[in-house]
Amino acid sequence: MSYSRRDFLRAASVTLTSAAAGEPVLAGASLTLPTPISRERSTFLINGTPHIADYEARTTLWEVIAVKLGLTGTNRSCNRASCGACSVLVDGKPVYSCHTLATEAANKHITTIEGIGAPTSLHPLQRIGHIRVAADCGFCTAGWVVTAKALLDKNPNPTEADVKSALAGHICRCSAYPGIIRTVLDSAAVLRGERKAIEPANDSVVHIELPVIRDFSTYGGHTRAETFLADRSIIRTFQGYPPENLNVIGKPLPPLPEVSLPRFTGKAQYASRVWFRDMLYARFLTCPHPHARIKSLDTAAAEKMPGVAYILTYKNSPRKAGPIPIGDRAVPDPLPQDINLQGEPVAIVAAATEDLAQDACDAIKVEYEVLPFVSTLKDAMAANAPDLRAGRGNLLRQASSPTDEPTATWANHRGDINRGFAEADIIKEFTYRFTGGVSVPMQPSGSVARWDKDHNGEDRLTFWGMGQGIYPARNALAAALDIDPSRVRFINKWNGSTFGSARMAAERYYFSIAHLSRVTGKPVKIMLPKDQELAQLQIKPETITKFKIGARKDGRITAINHEVYVSAGDLEFGRHASNPGSSTNQMELYTSTVPNWRSIWCAYKTNAPRPGPSRSYYQQETKWSWESMMDEMAEAVGLDPVEFRLMHITRPRPGDTRYPYDCFPSTEILQEGAKASGWDRRTPKPAADSGRYKRGFGMGMTQHHGGLMGYHEGEPEFEALSKAPGANIFSTELELSSDGYVTMRIALPDSGSNAATALAHVVSEMLGFTSRDRVRLIWGDTDMAPLSDEWFGGRTITLQGAAICNAADKLRKDLLRRAATALGVDADKLQIRDGILSAGAGKSISFGALAGNGPIKVHGRGVSGGPRAGTNKGVGACFAEVEVDTWTGNWRFIRAVYPHDTGIVINPLVAEADMVGSLVESTQITTDAIPWDREFPGTRHYSVGYLSYRLPTIMDTPKQTQVFIDSYEPRWFYGIKSFSETSIGSVPGAIANAVYNACGVRIREHPITREKIMAGLRKQRV
Ligand code: FES
Ligand code: FES
Repeated sequence: MSYSRRDFLRAASVTLTSAAAGEPVLAGASLTLPTPISRERSTFLINGTPHIADYEARTTLWEVIAVKLGLTGTNRSCNRASCGACSVLVDGKPVYSCHTLATEAANKHITTIEGIGAPTSLHPLQRIGHIRVAADCGFCTAGWVVTAKALLDKNPNPTEADVKSALAGHICRCSAYPGIIRTVLDSAAVLRGERKAIEPANDSVVHIELPVIRDFSTYGGHTRAETFLADRSIIRTFQGYPPENLNVIGKPLPPLPEVSLPRFTGKAQYASRVWFRDMLYARFLTCPHPHARIKSLDTAAAEKMPGVAYILTYKNSPRKAGPIPIGDRAVPDPLPQDINLQGEPVAIVAAATEDLAQDACDAIKVEYEVLPFVSTLKDAMAANAPDLRAGRGNLLRQASSPTDEPTATWANHRGDINRGFAEADIIKEFTYRFTGGVSVPMQPSGSVARWDKDHNGEDRLTFWGMGQGIYPARNALAAALDIDPSRVRFINKWNGSTFGSARMAAERYYFSIAHLSRVTGKPVKIMLPKDQELAQLQIKPETITKFKIGARKDGRITAINHEVYVSAGDLEFGRHASNPGSSTNQMELYTSTVPNWRSIWCAYKTNAPRPGPSRSYYQQETKWSWESMMDEMAEAVGLDPVEFRLMHITRPRPGDTRYPYDCFPSTEILQEGAKASGWDRRTPKPAADSGRYKRGFGMGMTQHHGGLMGYHEGEPEFEALSKAPGANIFSTELELSSDGYVTMRIALPDSGSNAATALAHVVSEMLGFTSRDRVRLIWGDTDMAPLSDEWFGGRTITLQGAAICNAADKLRKDLLRRAATALGVDADKLQIRDGILSAGAGKSISFGALAGNGPIKVHGRGVSGGPRAGTNKGVGACFAEVEVDTWTGNWRFIRAVYPHDTGIVINPLVAEADMVGSLVESTQITTDAIPWDREFPGTRHYSVGYLSYRLPTIMDTPKQTQVFIDSYEPRWFYGIKSFSETSIGSVPGAIANAVYNACGVRIREHPITREKIMAGLRKQRV
């Protein structure tokens, strides 16, 4: 099924002439194109320069600007007039260029992001946007900046409400909304001449600085000693770099300009912005059935259609059988004959334009054997369910599945559950259903491939991809193409966020796009339409959780029976199909003092989309049930929800091998969050407010499951782990040049987290700089950066960071040695500050001088795994205040307090921006189910652009305060730990509990919607 808005017009594009360059440019020059039904030739005055273009009647303004003229700064995301990413100004008015026909803009003045300001002459919106961190991934930025420019041209003194109203049609998936509002208001003030300098500063942060040495009253701290036992070895606390006397770490600074500024100027090179004049465009034909086998497939007519260069199907795809290995994961066959999921690709067409490729897709004839399917857990678990596994049943049983729990995929227990219930005064049972959620990126999943000859005349592929690393994807691609990895240059510097969910949607087709480019001899690009992309994204799956809880009158839980049923899509093993990620993760937040519990995990094969990371892993789908249950139990035993959690929260103790954490501020998270949110204003009785509008407070907690902390070269564990087959090795190179600058080379792409910015802070600190200005970055390109694994699970700062810290430590020691020799002093007498090593009495030498005979290069390496991998599981919470309109069921998220177990905060400015995005995205997961097919719920995502999957806009963002609790990680440099995914799972429970507190309606079936609130209110009135 296709949703082409232009099917009514069948025509072909032909030529265009760039008047500015005076050169004729042919699109798809070597292909025979048909006589179009309707064609136009017009002049477009773009950013003051006239361009003449020939185009079809169905061609949009975006296609003229970005595809025909190659002005790629304007991004297209939804292509359905629902996100604003493609906005440009036509005669000063903002329009969505994806839904403006080119002919409507002919002869008019068009302003794109390139016309707002150049890198050397930034407009205040761009300059201040950078300072205010108004872009994370930056994919929406070109759109809102031009709209904001139009606003300021018309209204030089806008209010916050004016800004919100002007930008309400722009979706920022990273939710940089607070930064965007501040940017527009500050830019207006600067343009009016009322302000000159804009200083980087946080918006709303409470920073709880815990003492470095703690007294263990809460177990939020670490051991008292300067050295401690970690992973069976004695190490120096903080790796010898304690969190004291810091100059750069902890400073609120904008992201690195080389990463951030191109987001504001339209120059950040997303794969979707890669453009060549002779490029081919790929489109998918997808399967409309959730379970089917292709019986016959006829591409003959499509192959003869105008502009069609090649059609790839399961019949002629030369991909080797079996999954392509990527890291420790597998990618499904890109063109399967046996189809388990509605929306799977059946053919990939490469043609001169997207429209021509779509025309050809529509002409392919496919005959399917339609098979019975199951898309929901209810159907999968039914006694008469179609068997998707050749007689083995839909329940997945692994080799490790427990024999004493024959209905479970995984199980764990403690104590005697029957005795626990016998000792209880109160027994309650609850069932919660999470229907499915997904983190949708702004950048359409896609890639570009181009083959060239190298200087030896041999073929070499340049590939622009998305995703979270470059080397694993490059190696997998080379393996599939059966070439040496050195024959592939893989580039992924910026991407419009992947959230984990989009990585596979892009990587699965890398081989197909590279192959299409090879057989056609032309660059090939794919950008999945959003409805097709949504079927490919990894989701937070449907999950049903059942609890039976026994407690004493004083509130103490005596027994928990916990059963989880999860839809694993067509996965047979790994991830959700095997066990709940980290098995202890599901249980350890509240069970450390519960003597009796049983937990089972039952994964079912279905024809629903595949589960996987989706801006966190196993978080919302599992945590919302726990947090709702804790609230319901608190009420049942008559305790305040915070008190009830404090009664049960895990407080690791030294020597308790169940919880090997040295910093776990669970108590501080609860207490400081309650304080910052004004929890004492909460009325325990639900629906206590009188009148139509009722306010309520709720909270939820969570714990990060990952806890991935690395080892670095020089540690004994590194040597062993790095030699293991498939080791996740991270590398970096630091190069000090004679100008005194340090260049940091890392492979990791930036999808909006500005991770390299944090790493640059650390390098600056370790090298004794008092600013970050002396560190430059080269990243995201296999020709430029050393080998590294990819990031996921919030591990950049501790795994890529392991390599960075290792390299910076080596460089520091090397410089001390060289300076000691040059100055004739002992190295330990030297001080390092801002690029000068000095020993007093006029004895000093600069970094630049030490590199005078040639750059000084050092390499650092880190590796994941080993016992340290599970010892850093941050804890977080959300405290929510909502207002419910009891007449309509509408509700507003008024305010959120979002406490995080941060370790030392490296850059509070970027950290705040990241956590704002975390909260808003998790709110969206809470309130929007995946827009399932209406006829067959649970099958494919059915979403046209973003129209039926409503993403939060600038109007939907609550006021929020981030609470940073700097529970220093004693194992790591300066007490750093990762907290990017720590708190995200707490949001659904917090909102559900706040809605209940406001109006007395308990929602146990996700998502939280107006309709469900209204239904609950109606029941109350009966
Ligand atoms: S509004 Fe045009 S791409 Fe979304
Ligand atoms: S910064 Fe707006 S979508 Fe990423």
